[in-house]
Amino acid sequence: MKEAGIIIVGSGLAALTAAYGLQRQRNVTIFTKKGLTDSNSWRAQGGVAAALAEADDWRAHLRDTMAAGRFHNDERMVELLVREGPQWLQAWISAGLEFDRDESGRLCFGLEGGHSRRRILHAGGDRTGRALVEFLRRQVDARIVEGEQVIDLVIENGRCVGVKTKRSDGVVSAWAAEAVIVATGGCAGLYALTSNAPTAVGDGIAMAYRAGAAVADMEFVQFHPTMLAVDGKAVGLISEAVRGEGAVLETEDGRRLMEGVHPLGDLAPRDVVARAIAAELDRSGRVVLNIAAVSNFRRRFPTIAALCDAHGVRLEDGRLPVVPGAHFLMGGIVVNEWGQTTVPGLYAVGEAACTGVHGANRLASNSLLEAIVFGNRVAQAIRRGIAWPEAMRQAVRRPDRRRPFAPSLPERTRLCERLSTEVGIVRDGERLRVAVGWLEQFSLSDWLDGDIEQLTAEQIETGYMLLAGWLVASSALRRRESRGSHYRSDVPYEDRAWQGRRLVRTREEWAW
Ligand code: SIN
Repeated sequence: MKEAGIIIVGSGLAALTAAYGLQRQRNVTIFTKKGLTDSNSWRAQGGVAAALAEADDWRAHLRDTMAAGRFHNDERMVELLVREGPQWLQAWISAGLEFDRDESGRLCFGLEGGHSRRRILHAGGDRTGRALVEFLRRQVDARIVEGEQVIDLVIENGRCVGVKTKRSDGVVSAWAAEAVIVATGGCAGLYALTSNAPTAVGDGIAMAYRAGAAVADMEFVQFHPTMLAVDGKAVGLISEAVRGEGAVLETEDGRRLMEGVHPLGDLAPRDVVARAIAAELDRSGRVVLNIAAVSNFRRRFPTIAALCDAHGVRLEDGRLPVVPGAHFLMGGIVVNEWGQTTVPGLYAVGEAACTGVHGANRLASNSLLEAIVFGNRVAQAIRRGIAWPEAMRQAVRRPDRRRPFAPSLPERTRLCERLSTEVGIVRDGERLRVAVGWLEQFSLSDWLDGDIEQLTAEQIETGYMLLAGWLVASSALRRRESRGSHYRSDVPYEDRAWQGRRLVRTREEWAW
């Protein structure tokens, strides 16, 4: 095995933050299956939420995060998020990170759904994620290997000791590591309509699960209410910050869609707005975002303006057709406050991890904050040699030898369509059972136990997509209530018996 120091899988904000925190102490190798600009972090528009405004404080941010998450959040982790986030951002601003400011040089704070205060920092108008990634890329001194896919984690005596990678020419390499950090993002790219980069298909989560790590909260997939709709397709995100600047959702005949639906109206939490839009689309086939009240649209939202131009949608008409798209996974690989998973030597961070901060529905612009806070925490844990707590060591059986198998795989577009219709914004037990049954036809146990090295990189990724899709669908089937982003029309209410119950899955069993 070749030596790689600390291995980070993925290259979004969480990955780069961890690399930045480690660089003076360790050799870091980042493997990314595509390139540095192919992450969801790069695409992030709205911004990063942080209680930095004078009239704000972390307690208010905590309350908003818990309310949006329907109190399924781990409050202790939320407190870490909202208290430590502003400190890191201040430090990065001092180091040269530039957020948008007003004429007097004061930071501008935007507003988004579920926030009781203006607290969203943004950069380049709607290019916040890109600004953060570029800032860190300038600071980070790590070996970055683009276009090489991590296909498996190497486990010895119950500990993660490295990874296997596959290059586009098919060459497989084994790499030894002091620790491996999974920062591969979530799995909203499994859906037909999505805001996500095509790389975000849950492969890192499925790979950790195959290696024995526990995953949790996989039923909670957030749908962003407003993707630009062109010919029934979602062609790109229209940031919630647009509604924060006064845009409103309307039916085709000009009726305000969110009136009377939620006290926060157009800025209600995302799950509420996405369901209202989906219901109206079922009824009439069209919902528009009226942007007449937004001043200086092109300057404030250059990415969105360019998106509209590219698709022939005239901003001057003031009415942008929208459709919800899968956006963010609240669940993922179970971690503690140091990003330690249930497999010693294996860390997870960012959307791939389930820290519990987002509960059943993430508050807008809390994802970049999570990447920053927990990326730094993972780096600290490794630097300080924080021991693996007994509570995070979960014994699981793994095969002694991986056996070869002939893969049985669905077409990817078929997989994404089925997840969209059967495990989408509105679910029910019957369709979820159908989805789980369909996924289980594809010999999932082969993908858990088999030897995948000889398969093509595309086959391996599709196999991991199957496992990730199954984790989402089967978790959704087991949670017999509606909460946040998980809405079931056959049990359309929150059930107190389910509050705080986290569905955890290991290779062998369910637990909560
Ligand atoms: C947006 O700009 O609306 C997306 C930001 C987020 O997902 O928090």
